[in-house]
Amino acid sequence: MASALLASDYPAYAESISNKTQAPLGWGVRPALIILDVAKPYFSSSSPQSLLQSSCGTGETIPAAVASLVASARSGGCPVIWANTLFTNANLRDAGLWKQKVSAKVLGAFNEKDSERQHVGFLEGLAPETAVQENRSVVPDLVINKKFASAFFGTNLATQLQFLNVDTLVFCGARTGGEIRQSALDAQGLGFRGIFLLRSTMMSVHDLPPAVLLAAAASICFVSLYLVPRILGKRKYHLPPGPPGEFVLGHYRKIPFVAAFKQYAKWSREYSSDVLYFETFGTKWIVLDSLKASVDLLDKRGANYSDRPKFIMFEELRMGWAPTLTWLRWGPRMQRHRKILQPAFSKSQVRQYQDNQKKQALLCLKSIADDPNSWNNAIRRFAVAIVLNISFGVDVDGPDSPWIKIADDAAEAISNSGAPASSIVDRFPATRHLPTWLPFMERLRYARKWRWAIEAITNVPFSQAKQEMDQKIIRKCFAHDRLAIYNTNAEKGVENEFNMDDIRGAAATIYIAGNDTTATTVILFVLYLMQNPRAQQRAQKEVDRVVGTKRLPTWEDIPNLPYLNLILQETYRMNPLSPLGIPHAALNDDVYNGMYIPEGTIVYQNIWSMHHNEDVYSDPMIFRPERYLSKAEGGNGEPFPVGNFGFGRRVCIGRTLAENSMMIILVNLVATMTLDYPLDKDGHRTPFEPDWSFRGQAHPLPFPASFSLRSAKAEELLRNAF
Ligand code: HEM
Repeated sequence: MASALLASDYPAYAESISNKTQAPLGWGVRPALIILDVAKPYFSSSSPQSLLQSSCGTGETIPAAVASLVASARSGGCPVIWANTLFTNANLRDAGLWKQKVSAKVLGAFNEKDSERQHVGFLEGLAPETAVQENRSVVPDLVINKKFASAFFGTNLATQLQFLNVDTLVFCGARTGGEIRQSALDAQGLGFRGIFLLRSTMMSVHDLPPAVLLAAAASICFVSLYLVPRILGKRKYHLPPGPPGEFVLGHYRKIPFVAAFKQYAKWSREYSSDVLYFETFGTKWIVLDSLKASVDLLDKRGANYSDRPKFIMFEELRMGWAPTLTWLRWGPRMQRHRKILQPAFSKSQVRQYQDNQKKQALLCLKSIADDPNSWNNAIRRFAVAIVLNISFGVDVDGPDSPWIKIADDAAEAISNSGAPASSIVDRFPATRHLPTWLPFMERLRYARKWRWAIEAITNVPFSQAKQEMDQKIIRKCFAHDRLAIYNTNAEKGVENEFNMDDIRGAAATIYIAGNDTTATTVILFVLYLMQNPRAQQRAQKEVDRVVGTKRLPTWEDIPNLPYLNLILQETYRMNPLSPLGIPHAALNDDVYNGMYIPEGTIVYQNIWSMHHNEDVYSDPMIFRPERYLSKAEGGNGEPFPVGNFGFGRRVCIGRTLAENSMMIILVNLVATMTLDYPLDKDGHRTPFEPDWSFRGQAHPLPFPASFSLRSAKAEELLRNAF
């Protein structure tokens, strides 16, 4: 916003600006118009206080200027506040020292008990609208009756503004040196930004006393009357609150590169809002900080929030090359992919994978029993083996299988290219054309270097599946099923709904979306059980009671093991793998709780913050599965965490499959092994907190753990399992 105050207008102001020790604050995100004393006492010609014939000659133009501002503010949904001086005691006792300073005749113009009462009140056609209008979803006008110059002194204006989430006041009114100056300085002291309108106030710049100008230069943005109605009118609703951005860069430098969710959680508290707004280079995003806001927008208004942003960084990784549902924009292709993938992972369909899931879980535990130091690889192999078999019918034979290497490389490429849609190329797509040796292009450099890994994971298993089909080798898996339909249609001359790229992409989606997520959750089990021996012992007791020690647990046992489910829930709560969810995007403009969410806005869900909200979870940083038990059972009755698998029409399709994988390995792990910190040479535990990576998925970096078989019988059961 350009200042309308020129250096030539007032040298002291020019000097204050040019020495750069102070600068005007400018606009925030939620302005309100405040009109100070534009009412009969100052603007009726017979009033003893009339300013209509003032020496600066602007008196007559003020009401018209204010009327145009009021109209713009109302059309834009900005609150309008009328602050008028009003005395209510017949003897002007409520006027304090004014009574001694100003004659009773003059003060009577503001006194509602004045015998004539002809000067009290608003001007015709320029008065508050306090009734709720059907066609206005914003608050009605606010009327503040004040006794002294400042609209804040002795009134509840600050409280009302906070309630309305207002952060910027556009001042217009009768007397620049009195009401406006006092109110503007109080506003600044209370944390509101001031926009000071030159031609809707009584005095010209040249009339301003030096003290007003200097104070104003520090706190207030001077603007011309011409621009403000356009700004007020454009703000149809207020954008959600958020920290102020920087010139041009917006919030780009304000968002931490690592663990941004913690900073977002702080801002949410600071701005008392569960919806925060940010903008950089024209890219707009909001962060939802509560379950309620996430459900309200992403579930209940799912039709409007089923889009995804354009994931430029993932395009650079060539993920657009084979359409991957997770990153597809809303549209027919995305709907086709969901239609074809979702049924394959319904509760009833995933039963067909259970035999293989159990087999892979026991193979994993056997492998850990044989080589405890390679436990991390064994878990990775477990997760890969399940999804690769479902998608391409491939058997992962042994820990050195090349499939594990391919999956790990792809997971590495995706996870290290950063949180989805958060890099500089996502925020400012033109930067993808800049040379990658520039220091801030590190992530693009990384993505291009790792493209081959994504190409390998989408291409290698698919080529193998096609070759097998050509050789009439049929396996029960997604790729073979779809290729068979494709080939039959092609032979009959029937048009195929899915082309080859679609089949390749959909099959790869299962593999890409289901591998690292499952493996990381199992690694988190290891971490939390190792760190929390009491929880581990309680889980072991439960398994021993329900299953006994003479056999291994089965699928039928799982519903009878509620404490193991609490461990799963607590693991979800402690560390959601995507702390900010996978972003959705708004297809159309929307208004939520009076906040304007423009079309195209990217929507993050701060799952981490929801799961660590102290109002919901006591001691949220502590792993305590009992917290979900009712009070009668010794718990706190806290709710299960929601959101780890997303929301609305883009919710994860693999949840049941993933939970089956995680529960079958957890129950067998607890039944056969005890986990602990590594022991030192004297046999003492060596507690530690591992390092974490928050760049893409939130996960602990590799850490050591000690696994010991619980008994000779457990060892025998594991060894004879296959
Ligand atoms: C612990 C395991 C898993 C977690 C925590 C997880 C989490 C998520 C999350 C947060 C989303 C985004 C949802 C949204 O945007 O609202 C998602 C999407 C998705 N997940 Fe999972 N997931 C897991 C396992 C799996 C598995 C095993 C599969 C295998 C089929 C899978 C397939 C998908 C797909 C295809 C999508 C994209 C849905 C869409 O964009 O329409 N996930 N998952």
